[in-house]
Amino acid sequence: MQIFIDSADVREIREAASMGVIDGCTTNPSLVAKVGRKLEELIPEICSIVDGPVSAEVLSTDVDGMVAEGRILAKIHKNVVVKIPLIGEGLKAVRIFTAEGIKTNVTLCFSPMQALLAAKAGATYISPFVGRLDDIQYDGMELIEQLVTIYENYGFNTQILVASVRGPMHLVQSALIGAHCSTVPFSVIGQLLKHPLTDAGLEKFLADAKKMKA
Ligand code: G3P
Repeated sequence: MQIFIDSADVREIREAASMGVIDGCTTNPSLVAKVGRKLEELIPEICSIVDGPVSAEVLSTDVDGMVAEGRILAKIHKNVVVKIPLIGEGLKAVRIFTAEGIKTNVTLCFSPMQALLAAKAGATYISPFVGRLDDIQYDGMELIEQLVTIYENYGFNTQILVASVRGPMHLVQSALIGAHCSTVPFSVIGQLLKHPLTDAGLEKFLADAKKMKA
């Protein structure tokens, strides 16, 4: 399973990339607003750090606006993936981008039939939001199971990019179900890495090393 970092913070992205565990990066308007930077200067910097797909989201909600914005974003770097909300106008834009060879990430997916429509329009990635479904007492991971089955049943090439990840178990389940990728906040990458037996074992090795013959 590919792991993307869900962040617009270049310090976090740099740190994760330096560990060699990052296959790509996803941003959204909320994450970009949080770091107080302009998208057009942020995306090239992220592309210089991450050697893989980097999602940048359009802000327009009409097809013409999305296509105009997306074409500008796609010109920034060959790895830019245009992120588009899962609405009718968005699917029209996906169809146009697909014909132009521009990669797309269809975001804000909360149901299997939304995902089917996005795949039919030619989406490169679909982003189902598991955490936000869990928040309202739906089972986010059940949606991932449904998507994997539906896409396999009909041979769609759209990659399932599990989003709105809140903790390590979302990753464990995504990998077991067979999702193609998950995008995770920097804090969750730290949680994935951590194991108390690793820490205790290292502490003991270092303590014993002091007793070694010089
Ligand atoms: O990038 C989209 C997604 O990962 C957002 O996550 O935590 O705001 O629901 P969250």
